[in-house]
Amino acid sequence: MKKVLIVGSGIAGLSCAISCAEKGMEATLVSPFPSERSQSVLAAGGINAVINSGETSDSIESHIEDTLKGGCFIAGENAVKGLCESASDILRWLVKLGTVFTTDSDGSVCRRAFGGQSHRRTCYCGSATGKQIVTALVMEARRYEGLGLIKRRLWTDFYCTLIRDGVCYGALFYNEATGAPEILTADSVVIATGGQNALFGKTTGSKSCDGYAAGRLFMQGVELKNLEFIQYHPTTMATDQKMMLVSEAARGEGGRLYYEEKGKRVYFMEDKFGENGNLMPRDIVSRCIEETGKQVFLDISFLGKEKILKRLPEVYELCMKYRGIDVSKESIPVSPAVHFFMGGIAVKNNHETNIRNLYAIGECASIYHGANRLGGNSLLAALYGGKVAAASIGSRTFEKRDIDFSVEHKEASEKLRSMRESKSTYPVMYIRDMLAESMQENLGIVRSSEKLDKGLDDVSFYLSVADKIHYDSSELAYFGYSLPGILTLAKATLICAKSRQESRGAHYRSDFPDTKEEWKAATIISYDDGKYRTYLDTEGRYEN
Ligand code: FUM
Repeated sequence: MKKVLIVGSGIAGLSCAISCAEKGMEATLVSPFPSERSQSVLAAGGINAVINSGETSDSIESHIEDTLKGGCFIAGENAVKGLCESASDILRWLVKLGTVFTTDSDGSVCRRAFGGQSHRRTCYCGSATGKQIVTALVMEARRYEGLGLIKRRLWTDFYCTLIRDGVCYGALFYNEATGAPEILTADSVVIATGGQNALFGKTTGSKSCDGYAAGRLFMQGVELKNLEFIQYHPTTMATDQKMMLVSEAARGEGGRLYYEEKGKRVYFMEDKFGENGNLMPRDIVSRCIEETGKQVFLDISFLGKEKILKRLPEVYELCMKYRGIDVSKESIPVSPAVHFFMGGIAVKNNHETNIRNLYAIGECASIYHGANRLGGNSLLAALYGGKVAAASIGSRTFEKRDIDFSVEHKEASEKLRSMRESKSTYPVMYIRDMLAESMQENLGIVRSSEKLDKGLDDVSFYLSVADKIHYDSSELAYFGYSLPGILTLAKATLICAKSRQESRGAHYRSDFPDTKEEWKAATIISYDDGKYRTYLDTEGRYEN
């Protein structure tokens, strides 16, 4: 039986595991905590699919066109075509597994308008779509667990992959219970570890998504792509805990953005872009908010309490719980925060990386979203990517090889020991916090050469002390050994942002404000013995 190791157990990992099990393969899902605590449960607004009900003028072609246009024409057309064509089947699959979508009185799945889309095609479960999908997938995974086709390993942190001669044979983990490294081998390894939210101070995402796996893989020879494209969600609300996402669904239902001047409301998005101004793509809305230089508000009160509670119950609850704001009476103070990473691990259309038998899916992989993702396409991409990777693995035959990985095991043990004994004055959490502050400041919505250089200076300093860090033994060893990988990823991101001398989608340079035809391609970055090399993939090397 083929064995697949899946690192990460959010929606992408679950989709891949279930698809592997459906094909009779054995999938092991490895993660530091259960699926129910993955970032996927934070996904609010919905999932895009062209379904045959109600509005008939929508089409798969139009979904493809919106996705390519939203991504500023640097996503691979065939990959996007596959994604959009699969959407209605995926939706049916989710319904079959028990996902409770919001439906009309005739029982058909409701769809809402989302930013940058020509039709209402975002299907949703109130404003808790991610939670509903995770719940249904976990139930299905449990069923396969009972059949012995899915295994789940919790409290286990990724350390590195096991590669020989350009082929991946498994991965090494840090076992939180034993405090020791552990090797798991497999025919294929699938990375599904999410985005890089913890690199930034203000984010809607989970801080447990820190990009370490992508950074570590990069140091092991895996190419990364489009790291400069970081999506700032325009409407997030500051709380003591974090930046809370006020779902785009609120604007999809008619919510209006404004600021106040001389006692009057200025509906700046509508003034600039007309009636649909509030639903422009996220990069544009975020930049417009930043340009106002003022506190911006989102008003949904005119919808009335009944409609708000029916269509946007989580938005109501969130604002009331964290800020005491009754959105049926008051406006919500909003500002942009880091939300999604279009860039990540470079993968071909079958989701394989440049290392044989090593795959990446979900937000950690860069493939469908180009320079800017459309709302509602991330859940779709996570589910679809998992299925595509499983199909590719299922179609392969694997050569059995008995390889000795004791060197990697010994090195990891040694690293953990030396970290524990370090007497450095640089505590690991302090460096992580400083990094997040610097990235927020220097890789914001509007970038410049000057700021990117400042970010690079900061990261270079943190890297120079990363090997000497001290971690308090009350903290997880993970925070210590992951630091160099996280810093290397941060440096690669800044290098990519500096190398792209134009503005496109989520990458806006005040010193290069125009979009240029010669930059209409993905940025690829590789790492070799401390050296970073970028190139533009004008030949579409990854698009097959
Ligand atoms: O605003 C939102 O609900 C976010 C959705 C998404 O990022 O797809």
